[in-house]
Amino acid sequence: MKKILTGIIALMGTLPYADAQNTATLQAGSPKQVISKHIYGHFAEHLGRLIYGGLYVGDTSKIANTAGVRNDVVAALKKLQIPNLRWPGGCFADTYHWKDGIGPRAQRPKIVNVWWGGVTEDNSFGTHDFLNLCELLGTEPYVSGNVGSGQVQELADWVQYTNFPGESPMSKLRRENGRDKPWNVKYWGVGNEAWGCGGNMRPEYYADIYRKYATFMADWTNTGNMFRIASGANSNDYNWTEVLMKNVPKSLIEGIALHHYSVIDWNKKGPSTAFNEQQYFTTMQRALAMDTLIAKHAAIMDKYDPEKKIALVVDEWGGWYEVEPGSNPGFLYQQNTMRDAMLAGATLNIFHNHSDRVRMANIAQVVNVLQAVILTQGDKMLLTPTYHVMEMYKVHQDAKWLPLTIKTNDYKVGNETLPALSVSASKDSLGRTHISLTNIHATQAQDISIDLQGAQFKNVSGRILASAKLQDYNSFEQPNKIQPAAFKGATIKGNTLNVKMPPFSVVVLQLN
Ligand code: AHR
Repeated sequence: MKKILTGIIALMGTLPYADAQNTATLQAGSPKQVISKHIYGHFAEHLGRLIYGGLYVGDTSKIANTAGVRNDVVAALKKLQIPNLRWPGGCFADTYHWKDGIGPRAQRPKIVNVWWGGVTEDNSFGTHDFLNLCELLGTEPYVSGNVGSGQVQELADWVQYTNFPGESPMSKLRRENGRDKPWNVKYWGVGNEAWGCGGNMRPEYYADIYRKYATFMADWTNTGNMFRIASGANSNDYNWTEVLMKNVPKSLIEGIALHHYSVIDWNKKGPSTAFNEQQYFTTMQRALAMDTLIAKHAAIMDKYDPEKKIALVVDEWGGWYEVEPGSNPGFLYQQNTMRDAMLAGATLNIFHNHSDRVRMANIAQVVNVLQAVILTQGDKMLLTPTYHVMEMYKVHQDAKWLPLTIKTNDYKVGNETLPALSVSASKDSLGRTHISLTNIHATQAQDISIDLQGAQFKNVSGRILASAKLQDYNSFEQPNKIQPAAFKGATIKGNTLNVKMPPFSVVVLQLN
């Protein structure tokens, strides 16, 4: 009898029997640093169907467009309030010669996109198209310069072309191409993945090269507006950050990048939709590792820059799986499920909680590539679960970070555990407090009781993103299968906010 009882109790522990209890404390009265809206940046590389077909269809297309750019995609991105857009790569950036993409289209040279599928790039989408698109979106351009196969003069000319208001060789050329006023591009990447596709450099060598490029990328606007971002480390390459921080004078650098993808195994990435729970767990392990990566890179930066003047710019992050069956392997087209919603929710919380150092980030990539927020098929467009998370979370953009500490239940698979819940909070300029919570547990609901420490709130409202299966996604047949809904699972009782979240769900609450 005793044996049977012990067996039943042991079994209860493994079943989604009761909601797990979690406790948290919100310091609502202690707003800290601003969560820069630039953490919500996006990335548009000349890769697969991102630029051609995804963003740009040309002004003779039957798909509704403005100067060749899809109106449906522009409207969706505007709703997302995307703060910046990185272009033209990625690996492509270090093969790109910007002068190929200006002037009459018919005269632009065709090149081969060597990194992505070996397809012919006709340069029909170039500098003017990109910067005008940014104006249309109301977003800041973030231009990645070619260091790997380019020249210092070439990048200095590009800066002059986009930013110089007076009379100069490059501003003359810009005017000849139909644009009088400069665009005043603030964010410039000095190469991309210089340790890999950007030139396979050693950090010592890149640090010297960086100094040279940064010197000649003059501030043509004379507004002190220039923000130069050094090509940064690959995930846990802490030595890269150390060497750069040690060898680049602070007067020459405003940001240092970090790239980290949540990939199960570079040789066996697993499917984007038909994944099992172990694969899901491993993806989330990789995603949550972002917290440690940032903490350790930031600690190195603190040694050389205790005033935190230099931003850590996570300008490539997201999930990376096998491409959709039948699609070009070089195009990196993948579907986007509730797993991606968990990845996005948890990662954005990590960024918020490190917003003293992480002041810019770019999810890879915006349309039809990797963890895209938008997918297109001909004239059809759909919004992915990742889009919905970013839309729900946008309330944190430029709001003040509030400390929110949590004692969370574990999510256990086999012998390994992860924290089930990830949370963050902020107070916006209208005095509203927002809390975002992601329950990554695949089977267990979570009860969270948050101690409000005496802060007075009259009411709480919220939205939730959830679905029946972790593998669910929005398809062109069912584009609205997953979308945010009103959330009724939060109540305030005295000094406590109680929240009840279903498994694998994202919730954003507003407290007034
Ligand atoms: O985002 C796809 C590729 O991943 C980028 O071009 C490169 O920078 C990274 O390795």
